[in-house]
Amino acid sequence: MKVLIVGGGGREHAIATKIAENPQVEKLYAAPGNGGMASICECVPFKATDVDGIVGWARQNAIDFVVVAPDDPLCLGMVDALEAVGIPAFGPKANAAVIEGSKVFSKNLMKKYGIPTAAYETFDDFDAAVGYLDTVSFPIVVKADGLALGKGVLICPDKASAVEAVEGMMKEAKFGASGSRVVIEEFLTGPEVSVLAFTDGKCVKPMVSSMDHKRALDNDEGLNTGGMGTIAPNPCYTPDLAARCMEEIFVPTMNAMNAEGRTFRGCLYFGLMMTPNGPKVIEYNCRFGDPETQVVLPLLKSDLLTIMQATANGTLEETEVVFDDGAACCVVLASGGYPVSYKSGYPISGLDKAGETATVFHAGTKLAEGQIVTSGGRVLGVTATAENLEKAVAKAYEAAEKISFTDLHKRMDIGQRALKEAKV
Ligand code: AMP
Ligand code: GLY
Repeated sequence: MKVLIVGGGGREHAIATKIAENPQVEKLYAAPGNGGMASICECVPFKATDVDGIVGWARQNAIDFVVVAPDDPLCLGMVDALEAVGIPAFGPKANAAVIEGSKVFSKNLMKKYGIPTAAYETFDDFDAAVGYLDTVSFPIVVKADGLALGKGVLICPDKASAVEAVEGMMKEAKFGASGSRVVIEEFLTGPEVSVLAFTDGKCVKPMVSSMDHKRALDNDEGLNTGGMGTIAPNPCYTPDLAARCMEEIFVPTMNAMNAEGRTFRGCLYFGLMMTPNGPKVIEYNCRFGDPETQVVLPLLKSDLLTIMQATANGTLEETEVVFDDGAACCVVLASGGYPVSYKSGYPISGLDKAGETATVFHAGTKLAEGQIVTSGGRVLGVTATAENLEKAVAKAYEAAEKISFTDLHKRMDIGQRALKEAKV
């Protein structure tokens, strides 16, 4: 089989690594891929959002199966376009990807179907949004409606900062068109858990839970990023909570999407908060998380390509999805200055040495004159697995220490909160 993976980050490298384990795969392609994926895939230089270019290329090259990993091509309808030319693909169609593409849609869906989430109001009128701020208590959370690279969420401690947030989104278009509508919602508290789940619209098979570390600096300080590291499983996610989430959130979400005529097939990401009043949804994503995937897939014992094909053709129920009972930790090595501004093009050393104890997933790298150099904000994800979390964290850091490049920045406390939680 010839398989194409759309995307070029650490998540896509982790997906490609797992798919490559299937003996039926003769050739893997990535569009656009990255410097690390190039060792297992042939990289084709399309932007992940180039729907026409990628679909045309897949057709010409008789690709048998496509995995569309990032949110934007899913929201742009790449899976619809592939299926229209007879190429099976993993990922939701555009009408289901809207669960991530529009926060107004997802909040209204949860309200309509009684799925637990923060109380909220939505606004497309600036004066109405500001007027509403007179009636709420603080802190409050202001969110841009559309895709904003994980940056369109502002937690506002008082009215002045909330007015500023609404102004930035609705009047100054700081998040582009995605901020012309806003959601203003209740501030929730409690540990956060990420759960990725396969669903074909008939059943939901959750993967092992994980914990992201979104802030740039140690002790959860600094700006929000795409994620500076992850661990799995998440010790806050007890078997009781998992059972509640299945019953109160996962299955109701699948049923709600079916009832709306928007059957979701693919990986549905539940960003959850374990509040004093039970688990609630913070956000949905229509895809694998990044860097959650870099800890979840290394623990998957079943064959990923088989699961993805079953998800696409509606036979997930009979397909095995089994995880190892061990743990995993991924430490992201970023370019200093990320998520704001950073320089690229620096040579990376120590990759082979690090690879002796851990798996190094490439995110922002490229091959330049035979040398792997930095090319993005998040550069590498160093992932180790072990029989328990403590050992996985130690192994990941041992390997991460072997890698160097100019301006390298990493958090030193990935997994520490989880280890404390596990001891309570
Ligand atoms: P999101 O992009 O929606 O995942 O939001 C980014 C981060 O903002 C989340 O991981 C939470 O830490 C925080 N956040 C979002 N919504 C809320 C909320 N209603 N209450 C408290 N924190 C929130
Ligand atoms: N790590 C968070 C996300 O993928 O959205």
